[in-house]
Amino acid sequence: MIKFSPEQRFIATGASSGIGEGAALSLNELGASVVGIGRNRDRVEALKAKAKFAENMFIEEKNLTENINDLPKYIKTLKDKYGKFQRMAYCAGITQNVPLQLLQEKEFKHVFDINYFTPIYMAKRVADRRINNGYGSSGGCL
Ligand SMILES: NC(=O)c1ccc[n+]([C@@H]2O[C@H](COP(=O)([O-])OP(=O)(O)OC[C@H]3O[C@@H](n4cnc5c(N)ncnc54)[C@H](OP(=O)(O)O)[C@@H]3O)[C@@H](O)[C@H]2O)c1
Repeated sequence: MIKFSPEQRFIATGASSGIGEGAALSLNELGASVVGIGRNRDRVEALKAKAKFAENMFIEEKNLTENINDLPKYIKTLKDKYGKFQRMAYCAGITQNVPLQLLQEKEFKHVFDINYFTPIYMAKRVADRRINNGYGSSGGCL
C-alpha cells in the first residue's frame, strides 16, 4: 500500500468536484498534504470537512483560466506559502456539448484553455526543481 508523509505535498486541481475531489481525498488519506484548488468556495471548503486528515488539507479558491500566463507565478506563490511540491494531479476540466453548427470560437477556446493550456502552464512550473522536492516530481495531467 502506498503511503505518503505530510511533507509530500500535492497540488490537486478540480478539487471541488468529481475526479479532482476524489484524488485530493485519496492523497490525503494516504498521508500526503494536499493543496486543493477549485473555483467554488463552498464546495472547496467542504473538501476540508471531508478529509480524513483535515490538518493536511489546504484549499485555494482560483479560476485557473482567468490569466493563464500568470499561472507559473501562481505556482511559485503556492510554493512560498506551503513549501515544495511532490507532484500535481491536474483534474480540472470541462466538456462543452454544443451542436457543431452553433459552435463559436469563444466556446472551444474555453475548453482548450482549461483542459489543455492551463495544465501545461502549471506543469511547466511544477517541473521546476526550485518548486518541486526532486523525488520523481512531475506534473501529471488528466
Ligand atoms: N468523470 C468521468 O468519468 C470523466 C471521464 C473522462 C474524462 N473526464 C474529464 O475529466 C475532467 C474532470 O471531470 P469531473 O467528472 O471530475 O468533472 P466535474 O465534477 O465537473 O469537476 C470539474 C472540476 O474542474 C473545476 N474547474 C472547471 N473549470 C475551472 C476553472 N476555470 N478554474 C478552476 N477550476 C475549474 C471545477 O471547479 P468548480 O466546481 O469550483 O467550478 C471542478 O472542480 C473533465 O474535463 C471531464 O470531461 C471525466
